[in-house]
Parts: sequence; C-alpha cells; structure tokens
Amino acid sequence: MDRYEIVGGRRLEGKIRVQGAKNSVLPILAATVLTAGRCVIHNCPALSDTALTIRILRTLGCSAEWRQGSIFVDSSVLSHLELSSVLTGKMRSSIVFLGPLLARCGRAKIAYPGGCRLGPRPIDLHLDGLRQMGAVVQEEEQHLLCHAPEGLQGARIVLSFPSVGATENLMMAAVLAKGKTTLMNCACEPEIVDLADFLTRCGAKIYGAGENTIEIEGVRALHGCEHTVIGDRIAAATYLAAAAITGGEIAVSGIEPENLMSMLAMLQKSGNEVFWEKNCCCLKAPPRLQALPQVRTMPYPGFPTDGLPLFLSLAAAAQGTSIFVENIFENRYSSVPCLQRMGASIRQEGKVAVVEGGSPLHGADVCAEDLRGGAGLVLAALAAQGISRIEGIEWIERGYEHFCENLTALGAEIWKK
Ligand code: UD1
Repeated sequence: MDRYEIVGGRRLEGKIRVQGAKNSVLPILAATVLTAGRCVIHNCPALSDTALTIRILRTLGCSAEWRQGSIFVDSSVLSHLELSSVLTGKMRSSIVFLGPLLARCGRAKIAYPGGCRLGPRPIDLHLDGLRQMGAVVQEEEQHLLCHAPEGLQGARIVLSFPSVGATENLMMAAVLAKGKTTLMNCACEPEIVDLADFLTRCGAKIYGAGENTIEIEGVRALHGCEHTVIGDRIAAATYLAAAAITGGEIAVSGIEPENLMSMLAMLQKSGNEVFWEKNCCCLKAPPRLQALPQVRTMPYPGFPTDGLPLFLSLAAAAQGTSIFVENIFENRYSSVPCLQRMGASIRQEGKVAVVEGGSPLHGADVCAEDLRGGAGLVLAALAAQGISRIEGIEWIERGYEHFCENLTALGAEIWKK
C-alpha cells in the first residue's frame, strides 16, 4: 500500500487551479442516463470514484469515455437495469442512479450501498420520496427492487432532513415524472444547483434549486448537452487551509468564492487575510493562527461537515481553545487519535471536540481512516516538526486529484512511496 512521507514546516506558496467537484460530477454522470442522448461533461476530476461511475454507466449499456478531463456519455441505449454489490459496495453514492433509472425505464434493481466510514448512511428519505411519486420499492435482503407500474407521478414531498443525496435522487426522478413535483426542506448545496443547471440545459424544468423548495415540472424527454462541472469547494478549502497552517500565501482559482463562504469566514476568524474575486480565493496566513469560534457543522450554507476535519487540524496548530460540534455524520472525528499522536491536545466526546491549540505538532506515523480525516492529517503533517508517514492514502486520493503533485508545486516536501 502507498503512503505519503511529509517533512513538515515548509511554507506553502503559489497558485493552484482547483479540480472539478467530486460531489457534482457523480450525480451529473448519473443524470446523463435521463437524457437518452449524448452529453459531454467537462472539468471532471481524475478520481477513482469518477472511474467507477464510468464503469456503472457502461454496465448499464451506455458508452462512456474519458478524454483529458472531459467525459463523453451516450445513453441512447440502456440495456441493463441492475447494479450489483460489486459496484454499489465500492461507492455508496451509486444510489443516485436509482432516481434516473426509475424515471427513464420504470424499473431498477440496485444492491444496497451499505454504510461507510462516516457511520450508517440511510436511504429512507430517497425511498420515501420515490414511493410518494408512485414507485413500488421492495426492500429484499441483498438489494432494492423498484418499479413504477404507472410511471412516476409528480408529488409534494417534504424531506425531514435536507439530505444532499435524497434531494438529487428526487430531483432527477421528478424531471421525467408526470406533472409537477414540489420538494420541500431540500438541500441547497452548490452541487444541487450544478445538477439542476445540467438538467435544465438538457431541457428539464426546474425552479428554485439552491433554495429550500424546488419545483419541477415533468417533461416527456430530455436531450443531451455540454456542461462544465463547478470547482470543488472542499478541495479549494483544503489548499487554502494548507497555506494557512504553514504560514503561507496562496491563490486558488477555478472556484466560485460564494460556494465556500462559511469556510472563508472561519479562515478569516483564525487570523488569515482572505480576499476573493470572481473564480478565485486568496489567503495570506498570519504569523500565528488564532483559535476558531465555535464550529458547528450544518447543511449548506452552514459550515460543511466535510470541512470539519480540515479545521480541526488548523485549530490544533492555532493559539487558544476551539470548539467543534458535528451535526451531520457520526464518525467525523476519525483523525483525532492520530492528531493526538502528533502532539495535538483534543478532547472529543460524541458530537463535540475541544481543541487546546498551541503545543507544537510533531511528525508521527499515522493512518487515514476516511477521505477528509486523511486530508486533515496531511495538513497537520505539513505544519508539524519532523517527518510524518501517512498510510491509508487511498482514502485521501478518492477526493483529491494529483494531491501530492499539487502540494509539491506549492512548496511542500511530500512523497508518495
Ligand atoms: C453528501 C456528500 C458527502 C457530504 C454530505 C454532506 C456526495 C456523493 N456525498 O453525502 O460528501 O459529506 O453530502 O454534505 O455528494 N440521511 C438520512 N436518510 C437518508 C439520507 C440521509 O437519515 O435517506 C441523513 C444522513 O444519515 C446524514 C444526513 O442525512 O446524517 C446527511 O446526509 P446526506 O446529505 O444525504 O449526505 P450524502 O448525500 O450521503
């Protein structure tokens, strides 16, 4: 297994163009199934999950080709409406194929996506919503068997929590349903808006994406289109945080600053100079980072759960006491034991972590347990004195394209071994 070796203490400096958003490209690729046409999706990040999504599309009978950051999909033919656990087990977001398959073909069989390192990931909201649209969902032991005998019908659906995945699945199901669907208390994440933009370009009628209520008027068919995926706000925040934790200076382009305001505000509060213009965020670190005010993760536009492990590492390197409250996933604090081994003073119980910053971090041998927790460890290692060895980097590389090369270009001493 590969690992990163990092010599800490190097100041990160320079410019970087951030990758396309992982959490946008996967649902958008799933949505190409709705079009029965040709789509070209630009700015796709080179990640294993992107490759797996291409595999899923091919399994379904579509042609999908990846050429220099763009994916060409032709979904005219769908010959297979089944996703086995071999595919769904590797990527739990594969559940977003359910809505599109049901909407286009009236049936689908999908093996349960299962839990993940962040804790159980239920899909009850996805299934309840689809049932309200007329789908019959049989929850068998190994898989879900879904069909819509009369076709999907528009419905008024109130989500009990603004789930990103459920909002995406239901929005995709609704675009080809008969009549109007109103989704209430839905997720407002920028990736939802990106998906709606893609679908609208394909001929869908969607109003209010990015707000709590989305209205969708079903249309008979969609056509293919060309679309560019938005920049990855969590990857952008990771590079900004890498400059902040090493006392550096950075300009991150390819990102809409509006999409990461809660994280930019937190970077400012920890003493960084942060400024932005269209498609670019810049940061200049202070001589010493300050503790963060309370960080509570919330659905967008609140502070994102994916950003928590990044800021946990920043807090460990900052002066003073910071408090974190995680409200979305159970196991967000996977990096805490490793950060403690690197000299961080963190007390964590349940949703809450208290970080007493100030004691210097030192290099250690640690292991990433999930994607963002792993990125948090890389940040800590960049700031630590001495050498860190990070194992489990396959988790980290699920979300960051050319991570090692990008950090090296910014002046980090990092090797993949
Ligand atoms: C998506 C992102 C993930 C990010 C998360 C929160 C993708 C592929 N993944 O995940 O990276 O960390 O949003 O921004 O885009 N829930 C239910 N029932 C459901 C669905 C969700 O109870 O049917 C709960 C979950 O347990 C969790 C919360 O709702 O506590 C949020 O989940 P959700 O927004 O659905 O996250 P994902 O779409 O899984």
